[in-house]
Amino acid sequence: MTEHRLAVVVLAAGMGTRMKSSRPKVLHEVAGKPMLHHVLDTSAALAPERSVVVIGAGMEAVEAACRGHRTVVQSPQKGTGHAVACASEALEGFHGANGRGTVLVLYGDTPLLTSETLRRMAALREGPDAPALVALGFRPADTTGYGRMLVDPGDGRLLRIVEAADAGPDELAIGLCNGGILLGDGPTLFSLLERVGNDNAKGEYYLTDVYGLAAEAGLTTRVVEADEEELLGVNAQAELAHAEAAMQRRLRAAAMAGGATLIDPETVWLSHDTELSPDVVIEPGVFFGPGVTVESGARIRAFSHLEGAHLGAGAVVGPYARLRPGTRIDAGARVGNFVEVKNAVLEPGAKANHLSYIGDARVGAKANVGAGTITCNYDGFGKFRTEIGAGAFIGSNTALVAPVKIGDGALVAAGSTISRDVGDDDVAIERAKQQIRPGAAARFRQFRGATASAERKSGKAKAL
Ligand code: UD1
Ligand code: MG
Repeated sequence: MTEHRLAVVVLAAGMGTRMKSSRPKVLHEVAGKPMLHHVLDTSAALAPERSVVVIGAGMEAVEAACRGHRTVVQSPQKGTGHAVACASEALEGFHGANGRGTVLVLYGDTPLLTSETLRRMAALREGPDAPALVALGFRPADTTGYGRMLVDPGDGRLLRIVEAADAGPDELAIGLCNGGILLGDGPTLFSLLERVGNDNAKGEYYLTDVYGLAAEAGLTTRVVEADEEELLGVNAQAELAHAEAAMQRRLRAAAMAGGATLIDPETVWLSHDTELSPDVVIEPGVFFGPGVTVESGARIRAFSHLEGAHLGAGAVVGPYARLRPGTRIDAGARVGNFVEVKNAVLEPGAKANHLSYIGDARVGAKANVGAGTITCNYDGFGKFRTEIGAGAFIGSNTALVAPVKIGDGALVAAGSTISRDVGDDDVAIERAKQQIRPGAAARFRQFRGATASAERKSGKAKAL
C-alpha cells in the first residue's frame, strides 16, 4: 500500500542555551543556510502535505523563518513527547477518529540528515509488514546521553527505547542508539502519545516511550540505521563547526562529482546553493556566499570572495576579487586582482583587471576598465548608475561620478574625474594642464642642499 499523505513535525522549541548565543539555535547557519531550513528542505523531498514547527515562547525569529509553515508554541517544554502532542491540533486530519496519514518527526538541530535516509524509513513503512512506527538508529562512537534501542534478536523488531538517564548498565552497553527521528502512522502515534507518562529520571514526557507502548500492544515497530554523521545534533558552537565541516565535505564532493575541478578542495568554502558547471576550475582559498552560479570553463582564481553572482562561460575572476550581490560576469569577461564588483554587469569580453570598484554599473562588451578606476555611485544619500558602452576604454585612475554614461567606443584619459556624459567615440579628458619647468629639479636640489647645511651649522636643523 502506498501512503501519500505525509505530515512533518519539526521539534525546535529548545533555545539552545549551550550555544551561548542570542540567536535561537535552529537559526544558526550551516553552509550559509539556517539549520531549520536544512531540515525543512530535506523533508520537502518526501512531498509532505503539511509541515508544523514546534517552537518555544518568544521565538518570533524562528516563526518568521518558517516560510509560511505552521508553528505551534510549546510552553513550558515538558519533553519530546509533549512537544509532538502540542502539534496535535495543527495536524488535524492526520490522526484521531477520522484521521489518516503518516507523521514524520524531525529535530531542528540535525542539519546533516539526508532525504535518502528519510526515503528508506518511508519505504520500510510501506514494506510487507507495514510497521506502525519506524525509528532511526545509529551506532555512535560515543554513546553518552543517547537513548538505547532494545531490538528483538529474533525478528529485529524494536521492543522499546530506554533513555540514558533511566538505563541500567546492561542497557547502557547497547551500541544501537536512537537518532530521534520517527516516522509512523498518525492515528497510532497520537493515541500512543496520550498514554505516555512522565514518571522517569527527567520527569519529562518522552516521545521514545511510544515504541514500548506500541510493542506491548502487539504493533510492529522497526529501526532504520544511518551513519553517525547524519545524526550529528548541534548543541554548542564546536558542534556547529563540526557540522559545517561535514557539510563542506559533502558539497565539495558533489561539486567534483559534477565535473568541477577544485585544485585544493579543503580550502574552498561552498554555499548550500553554489552551482558549478563541468570544467569550472576553482583555485585554492575561494569563498562562495549564497547565490553563486558558474558556467562551464570559467576559472575562479585564488583568494576570491563571491556572493550573489553569475559567471558566464570562460569568465576569469581573481585572484583576490570580490563579487557582491547582483554581479553578472558574462562569457569571457575578466575581473582581476583587488577588483570589487557590486550590482553590475560586465558584458562579454569586458575587462577590469586591476584595483577597481564597479558598483551599480553596466560595462559593455569588450570595454576595458583601467587600473584604479572607481565608479562613484553614492553621494551619501542615494545610489546612481554608471553606463560604459561597448568597446569603451577607461584610462587608469578614473573617477566616474554617477549618474554618468560613457558612449560606445569612447576613450577616457587616465586620471580624469568624469561627471558629464561622454558620447560614442568621443575622447574625454579632465586634468589640470601639465607644466614643464626645464632644469628646475636640479636647481631645487642645489638650493635645498645649501639651506639645509646652513641650518645644521646654526643648530636650527629640526630634530627628526
Ligand atoms: C532525544 C531522545 C533520545 C535520542 C536523542 C538523539 C527523547 C526522550 N530522547 O534525547 O532517545 O537518543 O534525542 O539526539 O526523545 N524539544 C522540544 N521540546 C521539548 C524537548 C525537546 O521541542 O520539550 C526539542 C529540542 O529542541 C531538540 C529535540 O526536541 O531539537 C530533542 O530534544 P533533546 O532535549 O535534545 O533530547 P535528548 O535528551 O537529546
Ligand atoms: Mg539532544
